[in-house]
Amino acid sequence: MSTAIAFQNITKKFGSRAVLSDLNLEIPRGKITFIVGKSGEGKSVTIKHIMGLLKPDVGRVIVEGQDITDFNHEQLRQYRKNFGMLFQQAALFDSLTVGQNVIFPLKEHSNMPLSAMLARVEETLTQVGLPNMQHRYPTDLSTGEKKRVGLARALVSKPAIILYDEPTTGMDPIVSEMIDDLIVQINKDIENITSVVISHDLKAALATAEYIVFLYKGKVALAGTPNDFKSTKDPIVRQFFSGKVEGPMEFL
Ligand SMILES: Nc1ncnc2c1ncn2[C@@H]1O[C@H](COP(=O)(O)OP(=O)(O)OP(=O)(O)O)[C@@H](O)[C@H]1O
Ligand SMILES: [Mg+2]
Repeated sequence: MSTAIAFQNITKKFGSRAVLSDLNLEIPRGKITFIVGKSGEGKSVTIKHIMGLLKPDVGRVIVEGQDITDFNHEQLRQYRKNFGMLFQQAALFDSLTVGQNVIFPLKEHSNMPLSAMLARVEETLTQVGLPNMQHRYPTDLSTGEKKRVGLARALVSKPAIILYDEPTTGMDPIVSEMIDDLIVQINKDIENITSVVISHDLKAALATAEYIVFLYKGKVALAGTPNDFKSTKDPIVRQFFSGKVEGPMEFL
């Protein structure tokens, strides 16, 4: 497997508490990786290290072969052009139309002519199943539609890496499945795109992921394929997948 993102011996403390504790992980290029773990285990902190929004106290973050750990502001700005990010709350601008929301990253980061940008916006909205939506406003959309507009905005600049923070949390089962299907479709459509999904939804992880990283106590308790997870005898992982309170897992 070729590696898109690697954490090497990452420790991150807030006060005296180490949220990430000598963490080593590798995320494969071109695949869908789920990062799972219970609430407060450091999933969002991990994704923030990938984006360069947080810096580790110790260790290195390597993305596409580049050590980004000590990047300055300008280097990070350039670096983040390679990313699409779907935020937990779709985080759309309510005063802008759907089209204006989706074109935003292109206007920020590309030198495309306006006509090409508009064509790309329509193409991306069609890809997420929302053709002819350009002129609507986010407040007039359903939750699932908003999520898909957020997805279109994350995709519009054809990123090398797309990060999804809890893409289906709070969605009904049908919308959740639709979003999961879109994650799979996008990973197929865009050659070599690396998809990283943070999720509590273990069923979705087993059904959708090609690789799963399970965080526990600041480290990787298990990393592998869905089949590795289904067959593991690790009592902590089994408890998490069974959703039971009783077991060896400690709740902070
Ligand atoms: N900027 C910060 N300052 C202090 N503590 C922080 C900061 N960011 C995160 N933490 C703490 O780090 C721990 C991990 O937080 P994180 O947001 O990564 O959890 P999570 O795994 O994403 O949880 P959830 O599933 O609830 O979103 C939490 O205890 C949180 O309070
Ligand atoms: Mg989180």
